[in-house]
Amino acid sequence: MTTIKAHGGTLIQRFEPTYDVSGINKEIELDAFALSDLELIGIGAFSPLTGFLGKNDYESVVKNMRLADGTIWSIPITLPVDGDIANSLETGEKVKLVHQGDVYGVIEVTEVFEPNKEEEAANVYRTTDQAHPGVNKLFERAIVYVAGPITLTKRLERDRFAEYHLDPAETRAKFEELGWKRIVGFQTRNPVHRAHEYIQKSALEIVDGLFLNPLVGETKSDDIPADVRMESYEVLLDKYYPKDRVFLAVFPAAMRYAGPREAVFHAIVRQNFGCTHFIVGRDHAGVGDYYGTYDAQLIFSEFEKDELGIEPLFFEHSFFCKACGNMASTKTCPHSKEDRVILSGTKVRQMLSEGVTPPPEFSRKEVVEVLIRGMKQKVQS
Ligand code: ADX
Repeated sequence: MTTIKAHGGTLIQRFEPTYDVSGINKEIELDAFALSDLELIGIGAFSPLTGFLGKNDYESVVKNMRLADGTIWSIPITLPVDGDIANSLETGEKVKLVHQGDVYGVIEVTEVFEPNKEEEAANVYRTTDQAHPGVNKLFERAIVYVAGPITLTKRLERDRFAEYHLDPAETRAKFEELGWKRIVGFQTRNPVHRAHEYIQKSALEIVDGLFLNPLVGETKSDDIPADVRMESYEVLLDKYYPKDRVFLAVFPAAMRYAGPREAVFHAIVRQNFGCTHFIVGRDHAGVGDYYGTYDAQLIFSEFEKDELGIEPLFFEHSFFCKACGNMASTKTCPHSKEDRVILSGTKVRQMLSEGVTPPPEFSRKEVVEVLIRGMKQKVQS
Protein backbone atom coordinates (compact mmCIF):
# COMPACT_ATOMS: atom_id res chain seq x y z
CA MET A 1 0.00 0.00 0.00
CA THR A 2 1.28 3.49 -0.80
CA THR A 3 1.55 5.20 2.52
CA ILE A 4 2.70 8.61 1.38
CA LYS A 5 0.34 11.36 2.41
CA ALA A 6 -0.83 14.06 0.04
CA HIS A 7 1.23 17.25 0.15
CA GLY A 8 0.12 19.22 3.20
CA GLY A 9 -1.31 16.08 4.82
CA THR A 10 -4.78 15.74 3.31
CA LEU A 11 -5.94 14.80 -0.17
CA ILE A 12 -8.32 17.55 -1.21
CA GLN A 13 -11.55 16.45 -2.90
CA ARG A 14 -13.90 19.13 -4.13
CA PHE A 15 -15.88 17.46 -6.89
CA GLU A 16 -19.62 17.79 -6.29
CA PRO A 17 -21.61 16.82 -9.39
CA THR A 18 -24.93 17.47 -7.64
CA TYR A 19 -24.01 21.03 -6.62
CA ASP A 20 -26.93 23.30 -7.46
CA VAL A 21 -25.73 26.27 -9.51
CA SER A 22 -29.20 27.47 -10.51
CA GLY A 23 -29.26 30.42 -8.08
CA ILE A 24 -25.90 31.79 -9.23
CA ASN A 25 -26.08 34.43 -11.92
CA LYS A 26 -22.60 35.79 -12.46
CA GLU A 27 -20.09 33.82 -14.43
CA ILE A 28 -16.42 33.85 -15.32
CA GLU A 29 -15.32 32.39 -18.66
CA LEU A 30 -12.29 30.14 -18.22
CA ASP A 31 -9.57 29.63 -20.79
CA ALA A 32 -8.30 26.07 -21.33
CA PHE A 33 -5.45 26.75 -18.89
CA ALA A 34 -7.75 27.82 -16.02
CA LEU A 35 -10.18 25.03 -16.80
CA SER A 36 -7.49 22.41 -16.31
CA ASP A 37 -6.33 24.13 -13.11
CA LEU A 38 -9.92 24.09 -11.82
CA GLU A 39 -10.22 20.37 -12.43
CA LEU A 40 -6.81 19.58 -10.93
CA ILE A 41 -7.66 21.53 -7.76
CA GLY A 42 -11.04 19.79 -7.59
CA ILE A 43 -9.62 16.26 -7.79
CA GLY A 44 -6.82 16.98 -5.31
CA ALA A 45 -3.88 16.87 -7.70
CA PHE A 46 -2.93 20.31 -6.36
CA SER A 47 -3.44 19.44 -2.66
CA PRO A 48 -3.32 21.35 -0.33
CA LEU A 49 -4.84 24.03 -2.59
CA THR A 50 -8.60 24.34 -2.30
CA GLY A 51 -8.95 27.16 -4.79
CA PHE A 52 -7.19 29.88 -6.75
CA LEU A 53 -4.54 31.68 -4.70
CA GLY A 54 -5.26 34.86 -2.75
CA LYS A 55 -2.80 37.77 -2.59
CA ASN A 56 -0.88 36.63 0.50
CA ASP A 57 -0.35 33.12 -0.76
CA TYR A 58 0.39 34.37 -4.28
CA GLU A 59 3.08 36.80 -3.14
CA SER A 60 4.59 34.25 -0.80
CA VAL A 61 4.72 31.63 -3.58
CA VAL A 62 6.27 34.09 -6.03
CA LYS A 63 8.90 35.31 -3.55
CA ASN A 64 9.58 32.30 -1.32
CA MET A 65 8.24 29.22 -3.11
CA ARG A 66 5.92 28.69 -0.17
CA LEU A 67 2.29 29.31 0.68
CA ALA A 68 1.77 31.92 3.39
CA ASP A 69 1.66 29.14 6.02
CA GLY A 70 5.11 27.92 4.98
CA THR A 71 4.06 24.87 2.94
CA ILE A 72 6.26 24.46 -0.13
CA TRP A 73 4.47 25.52 -3.33
CA SER A 74 6.42 26.69 -6.35
CA ILE A 75 3.98 27.72 -9.11
CA PRO A 76 1.21 30.30 -8.52
CA ILE A 77 -2.17 28.80 -9.41
CA THR A 78 -4.25 31.85 -10.24
CA LEU A 79 -7.42 32.84 -12.03
CA PRO A 80 -6.86 35.81 -14.35
CA VAL A 81 -10.13 37.57 -15.16
CA ASP A 82 -10.86 40.55 -17.42
CA GLY A 83 -11.04 43.86 -15.56
CA ASP A 84 -14.73 44.60 -16.27
CA ILE A 85 -15.93 41.32 -14.85
CA ALA A 86 -13.40 41.32 -12.01
CA ASN A 87 -14.50 44.81 -10.92
CA SER A 88 -18.12 43.70 -10.74
CA LEU A 89 -17.35 40.92 -8.26
CA GLU A 90 -18.01 41.20 -4.56
CA THR A 91 -16.21 39.41 -1.77
CA GLY A 92 -18.19 36.44 -0.52
CA GLU A 93 -20.29 35.95 -3.63
CA LYS A 94 -20.42 32.74 -5.62
CA VAL A 95 -19.65 32.85 -9.31
CA LYS A 96 -20.04 30.13 -11.95
CA LEU A 97 -16.91 29.03 -13.77
CA VAL A 98 -17.84 28.32 -17.37
CA HIS A 99 -16.13 27.19 -20.53
CA GLN A 100 -17.78 27.31 -23.94
CA GLY A 101 -21.28 27.37 -22.53
CA ASP A 102 -20.89 24.68 -19.87
CA VAL A 103 -20.59 25.27 -16.12
CA TYR A 104 -17.62 23.38 -14.67
CA GLY A 105 -17.47 24.83 -11.21
CA VAL A 106 -18.12 27.59 -8.74
CA ILE A 107 -15.75 29.96 -7.00
CA GLU A 108 -16.54 31.72 -3.75
CA VAL A 109 -14.74 35.01 -4.23
CA THR A 110 -12.48 35.99 -1.35
CA GLU A 111 -10.37 38.56 -3.13
CA VAL A 112 -9.70 40.36 -6.40
CA PHE A 113 -6.17 41.69 -6.81
CA GLU A 114 -3.65 42.97 -9.29
CA PRO A 115 -0.52 40.87 -9.53
CA ASN A 116 2.95 42.12 -10.29
CA LYS A 117 3.53 40.06 -13.40
CA GLU A 118 7.08 41.32 -13.94
CA GLU A 119 8.00 39.97 -10.53
CA GLU A 120 6.05 36.76 -11.13
CA ALA A 121 7.94 36.18 -14.38
CA ALA A 122 11.35 37.05 -12.93
CA ASN A 123 10.92 34.75 -9.91
CA VAL A 124 8.90 31.87 -11.27
CA TYR A 125 10.36 31.70 -14.81
CA ARG A 126 13.71 33.33 -14.00
CA THR A 127 13.21 35.59 -17.01
CA THR A 128 10.88 38.35 -18.18
CA ASP A 129 11.63 37.59 -21.83
CA GLN A 130 8.32 37.23 -23.64
CA ALA A 131 9.91 34.85 -26.14
CA HIS A 132 9.71 32.30 -23.28
CA PRO A 133 6.41 30.43 -23.87
CA GLY A 134 5.45 30.42 -20.17
CA VAL A 135 6.18 34.12 -19.74
CA ASN A 136 4.36 34.88 -22.97
CA LYS A 137 1.29 33.04 -21.67
CA LEU A 138 1.54 34.85 -18.33
CA PHE A 139 1.46 38.28 -19.98
CA GLU A 140 -1.17 37.26 -22.53
CA ARG A 141 -3.68 36.45 -19.78
CA ALA A 142 -5.86 39.04 -17.97
CA ILE A 143 -4.21 41.45 -15.53
CA VAL A 144 -6.49 40.92 -12.52
CA TYR A 145 -6.58 37.73 -10.44
CA VAL A 146 -9.70 36.44 -8.71
CA ALA A 147 -9.14 34.26 -5.65
CA GLY A 148 -11.21 31.88 -3.59
CA PRO A 149 -12.08 28.26 -2.88
CA ILE A 150 -13.68 26.34 -5.73
CA THR A 151 -16.08 23.48 -6.18
CA LEU A 152 -15.73 21.37 -9.30
CA THR A 153 -19.22 20.54 -10.56
CA LYS A 154 -18.56 18.91 -13.92
CA ARG A 155 -15.72 16.85 -15.32
CA LEU A 156 -14.20 17.55 -18.71
CA GLU A 157 -15.26 15.36 -21.63
CA ARG A 158 -12.53 12.90 -22.51
CA ASP A 159 -11.41 11.56 -25.84
CA ARG A 160 -10.58 7.97 -26.68
CA PHE A 161 -7.86 7.94 -24.04
CA ALA A 162 -10.46 8.34 -21.27
CA GLU A 163 -9.23 5.18 -19.51
CA TYR A 164 -5.94 6.96 -18.75
CA HIS A 165 -7.61 9.80 -16.84
CA LEU A 166 -7.44 8.83 -13.19
CA ASP A 167 -7.85 11.00 -10.12
CA PRO A 168 -5.29 10.90 -7.30
CA ALA A 169 -7.68 8.85 -5.17
CA GLU A 170 -7.92 6.32 -8.02
CA THR A 171 -4.18 6.06 -8.71
CA ARG A 172 -3.60 5.59 -4.98
CA ALA A 173 -6.15 2.77 -4.93
CA LYS A 174 -4.52 1.27 -8.01
CA PHE A 175 -1.04 1.30 -6.45
CA GLU A 176 -2.50 -0.39 -3.39
CA GLU A 177 -4.17 -3.04 -5.53
CA LEU A 178 -0.84 -3.66 -7.28
CA GLY A 179 0.88 -3.98 -3.92
CA TRP A 180 3.37 -1.22 -4.71
CA LYS A 181 4.92 0.63 -1.77
CA ARG A 182 7.64 2.55 -3.56
CA ILE A 183 6.48 4.23 -6.73
CA VAL A 184 8.51 6.45 -9.00
CA GLY A 185 6.66 9.12 -10.99
CA PHE A 186 7.81 10.20 -14.43
CA GLN A 187 6.73 13.47 -16.02
CA THR A 188 7.03 13.90 -19.76
CA ARG A 189 5.70 16.10 -22.52
CA ASN A 190 7.50 14.10 -25.20
CA PRO A 191 7.44 10.64 -26.71
CA VAL A 192 9.50 8.25 -24.58
CA HIS A 193 12.94 8.01 -26.15
CA ARG A 194 15.76 5.66 -25.20
CA ALA A 195 17.22 8.14 -22.68
CA HIS A 196 13.84 8.43 -20.93
CA GLU A 197 13.49 4.65 -20.97
CA TYR A 198 16.97 4.29 -19.53
CA ILE A 199 16.38 6.58 -16.56
CA GLN A 200 12.91 5.14 -15.93
CA LYS A 201 14.26 1.60 -15.86
CA SER A 202 17.27 2.60 -13.75
CA ALA A 203 14.84 4.05 -11.20
CA LEU A 204 12.60 1.00 -11.48
CA GLU A 205 15.51 -1.15 -10.31
CA ILE A 206 15.16 0.35 -6.83
CA VAL A 207 11.40 0.81 -6.48
CA ASP A 208 8.28 -1.35 -6.97
CA GLY A 209 6.57 0.42 -9.82
CA LEU A 210 6.82 3.15 -12.43
CA PHE A 211 4.00 5.66 -12.79
CA LEU A 212 4.34 6.98 -16.34
CA ASN A 213 2.44 10.23 -16.17
CA PRO A 214 2.64 12.22 -19.40
CA LEU A 215 1.37 15.77 -19.34
CA VAL A 216 -1.48 16.13 -21.85
CA GLY A 217 -2.79 19.63 -21.16
CA GLU A 218 -1.86 22.73 -23.14
CA THR A 219 1.67 22.63 -24.59
CA LYS A 220 3.43 24.84 -27.10
CA SER A 221 2.36 24.24 -30.68
CA ASP A 222 5.56 22.54 -31.82
CA ASP A 223 5.44 19.88 -29.09
CA ILE A 224 4.13 16.53 -30.34
CA PRO A 225 0.33 16.33 -29.87
CA ALA A 226 -0.84 14.34 -26.86
CA ASP A 227 -2.95 11.82 -28.80
CA VAL A 228 0.01 10.85 -30.98
CA ARG A 229 2.19 10.53 -27.89
CA MET A 230 -0.39 8.36 -26.11
CA GLU A 231 -0.33 5.86 -28.92
CA SER A 232 3.48 5.83 -28.81
CA TYR A 233 3.44 5.10 -25.06
CA GLU A 234 1.05 2.20 -25.61
CA VAL A 235 3.25 0.49 -28.20
CA LEU A 236 6.40 1.10 -26.17
CA LEU A 237 4.95 -0.30 -22.94
CA ASP A 238 3.52 -3.24 -24.77
CA LYS A 239 6.86 -4.21 -26.29
CA TYR A 240 9.52 -3.17 -23.80
CA TYR A 241 8.13 -2.91 -20.25
CA PRO A 242 6.93 -5.57 -17.81
CA LYS A 243 3.17 -5.11 -17.57
CA ASP A 244 2.99 -5.53 -13.82
CA ARG A 245 5.62 -2.87 -13.11
CA VAL A 246 4.30 0.13 -15.03
CA PHE A 247 1.12 2.11 -14.76
CA LEU A 248 0.21 4.71 -17.38
CA ALA A 249 -2.12 7.61 -16.63
CA VAL A 250 -2.20 11.17 -17.90
CA PHE A 251 -1.55 14.46 -16.15
CA PRO A 252 -4.09 16.85 -17.71
CA ALA A 253 -2.23 20.04 -16.74
CA ALA A 254 -0.94 22.88 -18.87
CA MET A 255 2.81 23.02 -19.38
CA ARG A 256 4.44 26.13 -17.90
CA TYR A 257 8.03 25.59 -19.10
CA ALA A 258 9.18 27.02 -15.77
CA GLY A 259 12.13 24.62 -15.48
CA PRO A 260 13.31 24.37 -11.84
CA ARG A 261 10.15 25.77 -10.25
CA GLU A 262 8.03 23.45 -12.37
CA ALA A 263 10.14 20.44 -11.39
CA VAL A 264 9.21 21.07 -7.74
CA PHE A 265 5.57 21.51 -8.73
CA HIS A 266 5.65 18.31 -10.82
CA ALA A 267 7.10 16.40 -7.88
CA ILE A 268 4.46 17.67 -5.42
CA VAL A 269 1.63 16.78 -7.79
CA ARG A 270 3.00 13.25 -8.26
CA GLN A 271 3.12 12.87 -4.49
CA ASN A 272 -0.58 13.70 -4.51
CA PHE A 273 -1.10 10.92 -7.06
CA GLY A 274 0.62 8.57 -4.58
CA CYS A 275 4.25 8.49 -5.77
CA THR A 276 7.07 8.19 -3.26
CA HIS A 277 9.84 9.10 -5.73
CA PHE A 278 10.09 11.40 -8.72
CA ILE A 279 12.54 11.48 -11.61
CA VAL A 280 14.29 14.73 -12.47
CA GLY A 281 16.72 14.44 -15.36
CA ARG A 282 18.41 17.01 -17.54
CA ASP A 283 16.73 20.40 -18.01
CA HIS A 284 13.42 19.20 -16.56
CA ALA A 285 10.48 21.28 -17.89
CA GLY A 286 12.96 23.59 -19.55
CA VAL A 287 12.74 25.34 -22.88
CA GLY A 288 15.43 26.90 -25.07
CA ASP A 289 18.49 27.95 -23.08
CA TYR A 290 16.68 29.61 -20.19
CA TYR A 291 17.86 27.14 -17.54
CA GLY A 292 21.10 25.38 -16.74
CA THR A 293 21.12 21.63 -17.45
CA TYR A 294 20.83 20.70 -13.76
CA ASP A 295 19.07 23.78 -12.30
CA ALA A 296 15.88 21.73 -11.88
CA GLN A 297 17.84 19.35 -9.62
CA LEU A 298 19.71 22.03 -7.68
CA ILE A 299 16.50 23.78 -6.66
CA PHE A 300 15.57 20.85 -4.39
CA SER A 301 18.56 21.65 -2.16
CA GLU A 302 16.76 24.87 -1.17
CA PHE A 303 14.47 22.78 1.03
CA GLU A 304 15.22 21.06 4.32
CA LYS A 305 15.29 17.28 4.22
CA ASP A 306 11.79 15.82 4.68
CA GLU A 307 10.05 19.10 3.92
CA LEU A 308 8.90 17.42 0.74
CA GLY A 309 7.43 13.98 1.30
CA ILE A 310 8.36 12.77 -2.16
CA GLU A 311 11.99 11.98 -2.87
CA PRO A 312 13.49 13.34 -6.08
CA LEU A 313 15.77 10.98 -8.02
CA PHE A 314 18.30 12.88 -10.10
CA PHE A 315 19.70 11.61 -13.39
CA GLU A 316 22.56 12.89 -15.51
CA HIS A 317 22.18 13.60 -19.19
CA SER A 318 21.83 10.12 -20.74
CA PHE A 319 22.51 8.86 -24.26
CA PHE A 320 23.45 5.80 -26.25
CA CYS A 321 27.23 5.38 -26.48
CA LYS A 322 28.45 3.37 -29.44
CA ALA A 323 31.78 2.60 -27.76
CA CYS A 324 30.04 1.32 -24.60
CA GLY A 325 27.41 -0.41 -26.73
CA ASN A 326 24.95 0.76 -24.10
CA MET A 327 22.79 3.53 -22.80
CA ALA A 328 24.97 5.56 -20.46
CA SER A 329 25.57 8.97 -18.95
CA THR A 330 28.56 11.18 -18.27
CA LYS A 331 28.67 9.45 -14.88
CA THR A 332 29.20 6.02 -16.42
CA CYS A 333 30.74 6.53 -19.88
CA PRO A 334 34.40 7.48 -20.46
CA HIS A 335 34.12 7.99 -24.23
CA SER A 336 34.03 11.09 -26.37
CA LYS A 337 31.17 13.11 -27.83
CA GLU A 338 31.70 11.47 -31.22
CA ASP A 339 30.67 8.08 -29.79
CA ARG A 340 27.44 9.40 -28.31
CA VAL A 341 24.08 9.54 -30.09
CA ILE A 342 22.58 12.84 -28.94
CA LEU A 343 19.78 14.60 -30.83
CA SER A 344 17.98 17.76 -29.82
CA GLY A 345 14.19 17.78 -29.53
CA THR A 346 14.00 20.31 -32.35
CA LYS A 347 16.12 18.13 -34.61
CA VAL A 348 13.98 15.05 -33.87
CA ARG A 349 10.72 16.90 -34.53
CA GLN A 350 12.17 18.12 -37.82
CA MET A 351 13.19 14.57 -38.80
CA LEU A 352 9.79 13.16 -37.92
CA SER A 353 7.89 15.82 -39.81
CA GLU A 354 10.02 15.05 -42.89
CA GLY A 355 9.33 11.34 -42.44
CA VAL A 356 12.99 10.67 -41.61
CA THR A 357 13.55 7.91 -39.04
CA PRO A 358 15.76 8.84 -36.06
CA PRO A 359 18.35 6.12 -35.32
CA PRO A 360 17.30 3.13 -33.15
CA GLU A 361 19.90 4.21 -30.58
CA PHE A 362 17.80 7.32 -30.06
CA SER A 363 14.27 5.95 -30.27
CA ARG A 364 12.61 2.52 -30.49
CA LYS A 365 11.48 1.81 -34.03
CA GLU A 366 7.89 1.04 -32.93
CA VAL A 367 7.71 4.50 -31.35
CA VAL A 368 9.10 6.19 -34.45
CA GLU A 369 6.54 4.43 -36.66
CA VAL A 370 3.67 5.77 -34.56
CA LEU A 371 5.15 9.27 -34.49
CA ILE A 372 5.74 9.51 -38.23
CA ARG A 373 2.26 8.19 -38.99
CA GLY A 374 0.72 10.52 -36.39
CA MET A 375 2.55 13.60 -37.63
CA LYS A 376 1.49 12.85 -41.22
CA GLN A 377 -2.15 12.55 -40.21
CA LYS A 378 -1.92 15.86 -38.32
CA VAL A 379 -0.53 17.62 -41.37
CA GLN A 380 -3.28 16.18 -43.57
CA SER A 381 -6.15 16.99 -41.19
S1 ADX B 1 9.68 17.76 -19.63
O1 ADX B 1 9.44 19.14 -20.04
O2 ADX B 1 8.47 17.01 -19.41
O3 ADX B 1 10.63 17.70 -18.50
P1 ADX B 1 10.80 15.68 -21.31
O4 ADX B 1 9.56 14.96 -21.64
O5 ADX B 1 11.83 15.74 -22.38
O6 ADX B 1 10.46 17.17 -20.90
O7 ADX B 1 11.53 15.07 -20.05
C1 ADX B 1 10.97 14.15 -19.18
C2 ADX B 1 11.97 13.84 -18.06
O8 ADX B 1 13.13 13.19 -18.62
C3 ADX B 1 12.52 15.04 -17.33
O9 ADX B 1 12.78 14.70 -15.97
C4 ADX B 1 13.83 15.34 -18.04
O10 ADX B 1 14.75 16.00 -17.19
C5 ADX B 1 14.32 13.92 -18.35
N1 ADX B 1 15.16 13.82 -19.55
C6 ADX B 1 14.83 14.09 -20.82
N2 ADX B 1 15.85 13.79 -21.68
C7 ADX B 1 16.87 13.31 -20.91
C8 ADX B 1 18.20 12.84 -21.17
N3 ADX B 1 18.69 12.75 -22.42
N4 ADX B 1 18.95 12.45 -20.12
C9 ADX B 1 18.49 12.50 -18.83
N5 ADX B 1 17.24 12.96 -18.53
C10 ADX B 1 16.44 13.34 -19.54
